[in-house]
Amino acid sequence: TTTTRDWAAEVRRLAAERDAVILAHNYQRPEIQDVADHTGDSLALSRLAAEVDANTIVFCGVHFMAETAKILSPEKTVLLPDLNAGCSLADTITAEDVRAWRAEHPGAVVVAYVNTSAAVKAETDICCTSSNAADVIRSVPEDQEILFLPDQFLGAHVKRVTGRDNIHVWMGECHVHAGIDGHTLRERVAAEPDAELYVHPECGCATSALYLVGSGAVPEDRVKVLSTGGMLSAAEESSAGKVLVATETGMLHQLRGANPSTAFEPVNSRAECHYMKMITADKLLATLHKGTGEILVDEETAARARRAVERMVAIGT
Ligand code: 13P
Ligand code: SF4
Repeated sequence: TTTTRDWAAEVRRLAAERDAVILAHNYQRPEIQDVADHTGDSLALSRLAAEVDANTIVFCGVHFMAETAKILSPEKTVLLPDLNAGCSLADTITAEDVRAWRAEHPGAVVVAYVNTSAAVKAETDICCTSSNAADVIRSVPEDQEILFLPDQFLGAHVKRVTGRDNIHVWMGECHVHAGIDGHTLRERVAAEPDAELYVHPECGCATSALYLVGSGAVPEDRVKVLSTGGMLSAAEESSAGKVLVATETGMLHQLRGANPSTAFEPVNSRAECHYMKMITADKLLATLHKGTGEILVDEETAARARRAVERMVAIGT
């Protein structure tokens, strides 16, 4: 519509005026994804945040993502259009929890999913995202114990794919992905027996998806456990008639744009992250106008967290 076009033109004009690059996560509202300079998964956006030349990064995502950008680019101004855009998974663990857990397992390597606060990252040896979690685990010597936090479903997934049994997993979960459970998945698969399945490893149903393969209910080549960026690459090459997608529903916008001849449908259409959706068209405009929503991470925390995040950025595709 004309209003959306006018809004997008105003966003682009203000971004140029501020020398700002706009980064958007795959779960953002469609109009935000479309107006951004880059849309991607957590790892791709972290890499971009470390590389871009602009003075300012406007991060359309949630708080821990903007913090990660600030940790990697401390000299840049990082703005988050709504500072209340949090993450229920990141909220399941504090820096104090990590210190206490480490004290119970002296000598263990702490691997933290990027969905954590800067203070938690500062207590961590190496971070990972869903696209490089297994590679990060493989980078740790096999005889070394690992404390993996905070997501229990991603933790179970990396244990399965790496075959390591010396990984202890924190029992956190994301309320959105935990809600995409095995029961819902089995119902959808039964109703759509020919469809392919893309499953994010944070989902409560990630184990059920592999069980469906193991029991012969779904052929192995039809089930893919992927990060949001991995889903997009798979979609670009897909010749499937239909794909059932188990992740936050914002992802469907990218998938449908990448491959109009395949039908992408959610496993659970109510799987919406209200934190991601807090970044609205109006708030993005207000941030670009006024420079509000600045992310600040104290220097000592940032320096300690940076080592863990830089190791993450260097590992995997
Ligand atoms: P990825 O984009 O890395 O797959 O992460 C998903 C997620 O839940 C981020 O909040
Ligand atoms: Fe956090 Fe879940 Fe929202 Fe991702 S989808 S930002 S993990 S609450």
